Parts: sequence; C-alpha cells; structure tokens
Amino acid sequence: MIRIQVPATSANLGSGFDALGIALTLYNQVWMEEADRLEISCKDSVKIPTDESNLIYWAVKQLYQECGKKLPGLRLIQENNIPLARGLGSSSACIVAGILGANRLLGSPLSQSDLINLAAKIEGHPDNTSPAIEGGLVASAMEAGRVYSVSVPVSDKLRFGVFIPPFELKTEKARSVLPESYSRADAVYNLSRSALITASLFSGKLENLRVAVQDCIHQPYRSGLIEGCDSVFRLSYELGSLGTYISGAGPTIIAMLPADNMDGFINHAETHLKEKGITGWQVHILGVDSEGARVSLD
Ligand code: HSE
Repeated sequence: MIRIQVPATSANLGSGFDALGIALTLYNQVWMEEADRLEISCKDSVKIPTDESNLIYWAVKQLYQECGKKLPGLRLIQENNIPLARGLGSSSACIVAGILGANRLLGSPLSQSDLINLAAKIEGHPDNTSPAIEGGLVASAMEAGRVYSVSVPVSDKLRFGVFIPPFELKTEKARSVLPESYSRADAVYNLSRSALITASLFSGKLENLRVAVQDCIHQPYRSGLIEGCDSVFRLSYELGSLGTYISGAGPTIIAMLPADNMDGFINHAETHLKEKGITGWQVHILGVDSEGARVSLD
C-alpha cells in the first residue's frame, strides 16, 4: 500500500482572506491501493463515509478521470487527526490525500503544479490546498483556473497556539454571513495587512503581527458564530499572543506565540478557559510544517 501524510492548514491568517495559508504540524494519514471493489476503513473512532460519498475516494476518482483512467476499486484506510469542520483544512487534507495518492498509483503522470491546480479546482479556493501540498506559508491567487502560488519558510521564532472549540462550523455557513461587497477603505485595510503579515512571518518581524492579523473582510462577521470568540481572543493576548486570528472560516482560533516563551501556555490557557466557563475547548501548540504532503511506500 502507499501511505500519504497530509498536514493541517490554517487559511487567511486574519487579513489574507482566500489568499494565504500555512501548513501546521498536525497530520492525517491515508493508506491506499487499487482493489476489485471499494473498501474503506478507519484507524480511529471518527465517523467517516465508507461509501462512494467518501471525499478521499471522490478525489481519487477525479484524478483518474483527469488522466483518462478507470478506477477498478480502492482499498482505503484513514487515520484522522485533523478535527472536522474546525477551520484546520480537514476537507483539503482529504482532497490532497486523494489526488496525491491516485497520482502515485498511476505512476505520477501529473506534476506538482497540475496537482495544486486540481486540488484548488475541487476545493474551490487554493488557500488550504496549496499549503497542504507545498508546506510552509503559501500565498496564492487563481487566474483562469490556474493557481499561481509561492511557499516561503516561516521564522522559527514562532509557534501556533491552537484553540479548538467543541463545535463545528461549516465553511458554507461561515461564508454566508459575509457581505457581497466592501468599500475601498476596507480593501486597502486588508491588502496592506496581508502584505505585512506575509513579509513579517517570513522575516521574523514579530512585533508587526498584532496589526497584521486584523481585517475587516471576514472576522468581524464570523466572530458572532463562534461562542466564546471574544473571550478566547482576550485570553490569548493576556497570555502573550503576538497576533490572534480566526483560523480559516473558524471556529478554531489561533494565537501566534514567541517560541522562546511558551512555558506553561497550555496549562494556563486551560485553567483560564475553565475560570471563564468556556468548556470543551482543546489547546495545542503546533509548529509550521515546511514540507507539505508526503507519499511513501508502506
Ligand atoms: N478562505 C476560506 C474562508 C477558508 O475563509 O472562507 C475556508 O476554507
């Protein structure tokens, strides 16, 4: 069987709506091989579709179709560590696992840039799929169905404090609350900050992050969908966050932290959340995955 490991991703980074994403050190794993029929199982207790509606299987089929091949059947095993519908790129991880795995099963007919284009086409936007494939901090734009992207490393002075709530928020719902149009002032506000966050993360100019994560395109509209959002933002800054933002479409909230001053962060965060009556949230510290998805023989 082949094994595909795909990182979680955090899109937007606040101001880079639909444009920026970063790969994190939390991984889903998928094993697959061609078979006579469809056989899907899971190594954990996460409820996944085991029929043709399974997203990884669907992505495998898309790639076979793209290459003009027929998929006989598939044996698929999933290990899910990226929580579902939390703004950490779980659906992109499935799509990327499916197309990278399928490409390897067919002898790698598609190039990395073909795979980046196909993943974004299936997902609808590239800000999770591109970093899942490339790793690092990825800026991307789509033009005529093609993704133009670049992955850059992120300063090793940073870690990511990830606050995962006990509830889901579907991207469609989180997009449905956004306005149809924005003023020029709003556009300039976000453009300047998304440029600033990219350059600051790359260079390590961490004092810029608090301003650079701010935006007026999506977070002000989405925060009301996330119970406890304002309290978690406040708490993260009390605990030394350099910049806090809603990860992707939410509901996870990410605090960027100085790598050299994180002692006790998880304990302090959990204690304070409890004191504020915010229950069921998990807190993790993650780093940046710089390699992106990997395919190997198992
Ligand atoms: N950029 C997307 C959004 C990420 O914020 O809606 C969610 O997949």
